[in-house]
Amino acid sequence: MINRVARALAAAGVEAPRAEAEQLAAYVLEVPRGRLALADGFTPAQRDRLDALVGRRLTREPLQHLLGSAGFRHLELAVGPGVFVPRPETELLAGWGIERARECAAPLVVDLCSGSGAIALAVAQEVPAARVVAVERSPAALAWLRRNAAGRAAAGDRPIDVVAADVTDPDLLADLAGQVDVLLCNPPYVPRSVTVPPEVAGHDPDEAVFGGADGLDVIRPVVDRAAALLRPGGAIGIEHDDTHAAAVPALLRGDGRYDRVAEHRDLAGRPRWASASRRADGTHADPAPAWQTDSS
Ligand SMILES: C[S@@+](CC[C@H](N)C(=O)[O-])C[C@H]1O[C@@H](n2cnc3c(N)ncnc32)[C@H](O)[C@@H]1O
Repeated sequence: MINRVARALAAAGVEAPRAEAEQLAAYVLEVPRGRLALADGFTPAQRDRLDALVGRRLTREPLQHLLGSAGFRHLELAVGPGVFVPRPETELLAGWGIERARECAAPLVVDLCSGSGAIALAVAQEVPAARVVAVERSPAALAWLRRNAAGRAAAGDRPIDVVAADVTDPDLLADLAGQVDVLLCNPPYVPRSVTVPPEVAGHDPDEAVFGGADGLDVIRPVVDRAAALLRPGGAIGIEHDDTHAAAVPALLRGDGRYDRVAEHRDLAGRPRWASASRRADGTHADPAPAWQTDSS
């Protein structure tokens, strides 16, 4: 059965057909994927259910929408229509932010463009001392974010603050100005002219994916506003398109209020996010910390 599903998915152009066939089978059989070999096999009702899910996947509906959840670091987040499916590469930015936050006793961490809450909730789970503020504009995404935040709070994580706002607002989070220790952002950044895969085009919201003609429409105001929000020495990490390896560090350097600007690559070697530190006004930059050296 799994072989048959894997062949069908491969023929439809799905990138990891065997892994997805196993995940769908495990979901239908209600067993962990690692225990599939021990499962009894499919009842007729389970077979029908699997067929229906495979039919939807063949139309390139994202696997995570079919399963109703997406893994992110140590979290399982509810996702579906209206919210961006968190990606594995963003786990690296979140991990970097978690390390920065752990350097502070009681860090204030802001996640801009929070979507499902992946970054914010990972920080809340892995840095229990952190106060985390998640900002999102889309009403549909906010519903998923609030649901995930409530689920994590019920599981015992420190509750996060969810703020419905536009991150390009020049007065964003005015009450936190100069206090933020770590600011993380995975904004919409794909240039409008880029053709994206069917899973993205048909299912991730447009406003979660595209960042205007050059992909920088949200990043530019975020770089500006973050400089006002961060305390001196506070850290910023922004995910970006792999064509932005020069543009985003240039925006950070050009702003004048940051130092220690660094560019980071993902596990496949692609430029993936940029980081910087808020300069203490009127002082010279401190020596580069260890984390700058993990840049390309
Ligand atoms: C690429 S998704 C990232 C979601 C999540 N942080 C993650 O890593 O999975 C970008 C998110 O930014 C939101 N967004 C886009 N423009 C925004 C704006 N101007 N203000 C606030 N949120 C915005 C979208 O609705 C979407 O949820």
